[in-house]
Amino acid sequence: MNPKAHQPDSLPAPDAAALAQSNALVELIRAEIDAAGGWLPFDRYMDRALYAPRLGYYSGGAIKFGRRADDGSDFITAPELSPLFAATLARPVAQALEASGTRDVIEFGAGTGRLAAGLLNALDAHGALLDSYSIVDLSGELRERQQALLEQQAPALAARVRWLDALPAEFAGVVIGNEVLDAMPVRLFAHANGAWRERGVVHRDDAFVFEDRALQSTHDAAFLDEIEAGDDYVTETHEAACAFTRTICRMLTRGAAFFIDYGFPRHEYYHGQRTQGTLMCHYRHRAHGDPFLYPGLQDITAHVEFTGIAEAGVDTGADLLGYTSQARFLMNAGITDALAEFDPADAARFLPAANAVQKLLSEAEMGELFKVIAFSRGIDVTLDAFARGDRSHTL
Ligand SMILES: C[S@@+](CC[C@H](N)C(=O)[O-])C[C@H]1O[C@@H](n2cnc3c(N)ncnc32)[C@H](O)[C@@H]1O
Repeated sequence: MNPKAHQPDSLPAPDAAALAQSNALVELIRAEIDAAGGWLPFDRYMDRALYAPRLGYYSGGAIKFGRRADDGSDFITAPELSPLFAATLARPVAQALEASGTRDVIEFGAGTGRLAAGLLNALDAHGALLDSYSIVDLSGELRERQQALLEQQAPALAARVRWLDALPAEFAGVVIGNEVLDAMPVRLFAHANGAWRERGVVHRDDAFVFEDRALQSTHDAAFLDEIEAGDDYVTETHEAACAFTRTICRMLTRGAAFFIDYGFPRHEYYHGQRTQGTLMCHYRHRAHGDPFLYPGLQDITAHVEFTGIAEAGVDTGADLLGYTSQARFLMNAGITDALAEFDPADAARFLPAANAVQKLLSEAEMGELFKVIAFSRGIDVTLDAFARGDRSHTL
């Protein structure tokens, strides 16, 4: 998705069934706020809004991924934008599989299944036939969509795909997550009148509103006090994404883990001029800043703080394999060679492919804001995708 904000003038209204689902989720969250004494930390609100069983945005029936608002979708991701994304990512994945002598992939948060289908086909074409491609997603509803798409787009390989309800204790192979870290709940903190407070959610007059309360932990205070924040400064911390990274890196006994997402290293993330944080919502391809709009029917996301992610992975003893921009990673991995295979004389195929690659690479679109971070364990390899322009030293 392209998380640049623009305030919508008017938003398409959800249908009656969607509204009923949203209202049921509102009731559930209100009850949880009451049970918690009247105030919920924002990460718990975000967790419920995205992942409450059957009602949350990802666990309910929202269409989510697609190209246009009129197909009922809310945002588009790189694998949906161009098949060349999966075809290009397949090269570093194949290199990591070969270096580790493994033949298994786990993808987290597999969306429509398009990245899985593209990777399976491209790995097969590179002669890196997989034993298994496992998908882990908090969204059960997506599993049916993924199955149908895989049958259609990778019929000979779909039988290698399995869906995991729980993580294996140990895994040797390659882990992938595209735009998964940004979908993990964040805590919010506000700085005003010289003091930090944690921003949470209360309900008042039939609506959810923010309410700030004094910090409860010296650990939070010590972290936040490092930020040169003026008044009216809001930011996020990413405990869930860091815990997830630790879990994955601990699980990885040999191989590599790749995470692709939008975000910055810590010194940019907590810059004094980034005064309003990065929390962002997506509804029908409009980005806006109100997480209380139609709970359960819109995506809520925050940029990733990659220094924290790197520390979390390295803390487990994993190696930082590389960190760079999406543009650099895809170019190093040969996306322009893949595009060159399209005949420019065949404008109907070439132009859309070239436009999509331009979006993936352009600094003004996804090329610079999106980053790739990778961890490894037990392998000694420099991936071609990180060979030039690795920015690990900036973390
Ligand atoms: C923004 S979507 C990205 C989907 C897809 N990777 C793509 O690029 O189109 C985020 C996905 O991450 C999933 N997710 C979030 N936390 C997760 C976790 N802890 N384990 C597995 N999936 C998770 C969500 O359910 C959702 O499907």
